[in-house]
Amino acid sequence: MDALPQQFSDGHVGNLVSKVPSGGASGPIEMHNIATLADRAAGMVSAVRSRLLVPDARKVAPAFSAERVASLCGIPRSDIAKQRDLPQGTVVRPGSQRVFSLTEVQIWTRAMRRELMRPAGCHGITIAIGNFKGGVGKTTTSMVLAQGLSMRGHRVLVIDTDPQASLTTLFGVLPETEVRDDMTVGPLCRGDVSGLGTAVQPTYWSGIDLVPAAPYLFSAEFSLPERQLKDPSLRFWDVLNQGLDTVRNGYDVIIVDTPPALSYMSMNAFMAADGIVVPMPPSALDFASAAQFWGLFADLGRSGRSDAGRHKSYEFLHILLSRVDHSDAATPAVREWIRATYGSCVLPVEIPKTTVTSSKAVEFGTVYDLQKYEGAARTYRRAIEAYDGFVQAVERSVVDSWARRCGWPGGEPAATCA
Ligand SMILES: Nc1ncnc2c1ncn2[C@@H]1O[C@H](COP(=O)(O)OP(=O)(O)OP(=O)(O)O)[C@@H](O)[C@H]1O
Ligand SMILES: [Mg+2]
Repeated sequence: MDALPQQFSDGHVGNLVSKVPSGGASGPIEMHNIATLADRAAGMVSAVRSRLLVPDARKVAPAFSAERVASLCGIPRSDIAKQRDLPQGTVVRPGSQRVFSLTEVQIWTRAMRRELMRPAGCHGITIAIGNFKGGVGKTTTSMVLAQGLSMRGHRVLVIDTDPQASLTTLFGVLPETEVRDDMTVGPLCRGDVSGLGTAVQPTYWSGIDLVPAAPYLFSAEFSLPERQLKDPSLRFWDVLNQGLDTVRNGYDVIIVDTPPALSYMSMNAFMAADGIVVPMPPSALDFASAAQFWGLFADLGRSGRSDAGRHKSYEFLHILLSRVDHSDAATPAVREWIRATYGSCVLPVEIPKTTVTSSKAVEFGTVYDLQKYEGAARTYRRAIEAYDGFVQAVERSVVDSWARRCGWPGGEPAATCA
């Protein structure tokens, strides 16, 4: 990455430098120093983003090759030119390859994959992405799943319930300066509104809408229990689920990214979900903390107050081996523990730890935002194949859920893995 923006060079750091010498902080560090740090960090994110997303500081979706369109549609490349009634892309420069916009891709996938689209009258399927352990890949998984399903023709709503707002940032939206309270799930949690409709925002990625998050979403953790104290009949775990009723019919899939904690917000996400995806890196510590996750999750169902919890059931529960580090000698053993413990809940695809994801994350994007990978073609292909395999597996579960719920032919019976 280039040198830091000018305003962050030494002459502009202000009096904090005297409090934070290069060898670490020496006291007293006062709250106003912390506030200065907060301002600088927000300013740095904004400056970096502006430089990365030139010319207008907005993300843009990538263009797609004819090969990619064909592969998303499951047809041979040569069939693209035969379908004259479908968009034929654009030749940007004489002699260059034909490219397709995201909206053109969606016209193709909706036409070619009709049997996988949501049947009329069937509700969208809500998927919560969760694991109380931090940094396991929840947000990356939420984003690639949304992008991957959208490329395959589905209309997706993404809800960021994490006050860290990483998912919001991946959409190129700055939580601190660009997200107002009424754009988040905050008013729903406070009881100011009864539906999520007004919070929904369009994004740079056509076919994905977003309910963004911002740091003040932390207040939801107080407003939900506070409301229940005042109104004991309030089902505080069911607020998101009910709020979704107003938007459920407008989307094929609703994806909820959750915070790394057992919070009122994550409880709401799990209770609103029809299916759950748990990203889990095969490392001993992540395996151990996942055991606590299931314990706490099961308590949700057992809790005397959570009446709905006892009757809650899911269409699917997938464990996704994420950030799999093939160079780590412990990986094969922990992968076996995971398979032995979670059986057929474990998806048959796994996501490798890859520089394609980590380098794109530096630019606030995912593998699917990448227009051109500068590194080895094999590394890129492996990453794309892994994420594509994951998206297809979840899509299969979604389609099966529609089949079961809406009496639509072709679905597999619900499989239980526990
Ligand atoms: N397959 C991967 N290969 C390499 N890096 C990855 C991969 N998946 C995610 N990462 C990186 O790991 C970090 C954590 O990922 P992510 O933010 O998705 O996790 P998270 O579970 O949402 O974290 P949190 O609990 O803080 O919300 C990010 O920097 C992300 O870019
Ligand atoms: Mg996250």
